[in-house]
Amino acid sequence: MTDSLQARLAAALSPIANPRTGASIYSTQQVRDIASTRDGKVRVTLLLGAQDDPTLARQVRQALEKVEGVTDVRVDVKDAAEAPAPAKPAGRALPVMGNDPAPRTPAAPTPVTYPKLGRILAISSGKGGVGKSTVTTNLAIALAKAGKRVGIMDADIYGPNIPRMMGVDEAPPVKDDKIQPLEAHGVKIMSLGFLIERDQPAIWRGPIVMKIITQFLRDVDWGTLDFLLVDMPPGTGDAQLSLVQATNVSGAVIVTTPQEVAVGDALRGAKMFERVGVPVLGIVENMSYFESPETGKPMAIFGTGGGKRLADELGVPLLGEVPLYPPVLEGGDRGAPIVVSDAGSAAAKKLTAVAMKLV
Ligand SMILES: Nc1ncnc2c1ncn2[C@@H]1O[C@H](COP(=O)(O)OP(=O)(O)O)[C@@H](O)[C@H]1O
Ligand SMILES: [Mg+2]
Repeated sequence: MTDSLQARLAAALSPIANPRTGASIYSTQQVRDIASTRDGKVRVTLLLGAQDDPTLARQVRQALEKVEGVTDVRVDVKDAAEAPAPAKPAGRALPVMGNDPAPRTPAAPTPVTYPKLGRILAISSGKGGVGKSTVTTNLAIALAKAGKRVGIMDADIYGPNIPRMMGVDEAPPVKDDKIQPLEAHGVKIMSLGFLIERDQPAIWRGPIVMKIITQFLRDVDWGTLDFLLVDMPPGTGDAQLSLVQATNVSGAVIVTTPQEVAVGDALRGAKMFERVGVPVLGIVENMSYFESPETGKPMAIFGTGGGKRLADELGVPLLGEVPLYPPVLEGGDRGAPIVVSDAGSAAAKKLTAVAMKLV
């Protein structure tokens, strides 16, 4: 069974051509380490160069998922420059990725300043699910409402959900060799979620993350911005490191919930930014207390004061305490963040106040 599954996998992969070279990604071993289990779990490695189209990851996944007998697919995306690859010509890329060849050795890059992008703010958290993307989208819209030119760069490569929260999802057009960001609620948006499928992201590793972030900064037609908010993945991984190596980050905003465990993770995240010379501008405590949409009464459910303790520990301001308020979730799910869908609510007012403090 395994043998014939392998044969079917090969047959499914062979017709996929790298648009840059026209060559089959199977015969050139751009896709390799094709492993399968008896129960149909398939795992492959896809090598991507800086010039390669990252949507290949989706094509590979989709092709494999269609193969009879396949129950699960995992695509590990690795940097072609890192792998002992068969000789491949360097060429062109993603929609647009410039003509410079991939660096063979990932040297420690010097941060590049992008003066037109304004203040670049990282929105970060120790843990997932604390409301980082919710805070990012609402801050961005509040800033836009205040007349600022704002962009969101969704750098949460593991769960790019800014498109859903902002209610946009299409392939961004390319014009004059630049990716045109999409726009919603007065905010320009770029996300890996536009380029890959959102629900089953590939696993992006090391230098590839750096390339994606650099491309989002350099090859997206942001125009002139006052603020670029960067929605980071949780923790202190490749994306955080890549962002601070790629450009000069003006500051970080740390989102946490009141619980100790979230706060401990947030502290580690904040310290990381301080170590690399990025000032932590302040803490946003999200889901601080429950606010009933019926009664409007506040109710502490996760304990209290975590955000304040974290802010004190770091010597930075507590920028706001945002209630857990069910319409926040509903708004995010249908692409209308709370500062749009219910601007008069306490949650929206708190988030707007945070935005004003940042200004
Ligand atoms: N203040 C809030 N009140 C109610 N739901 C919230 C609030 N903040 C976030 N959520 C919901 O919690 C979930 C996780 O939030 P999200 O912003 O995606 O977190 P993260 O980006 O940190 O993973 C989402 O479904 C979101 O709508
Ligand atoms: Mg998120």
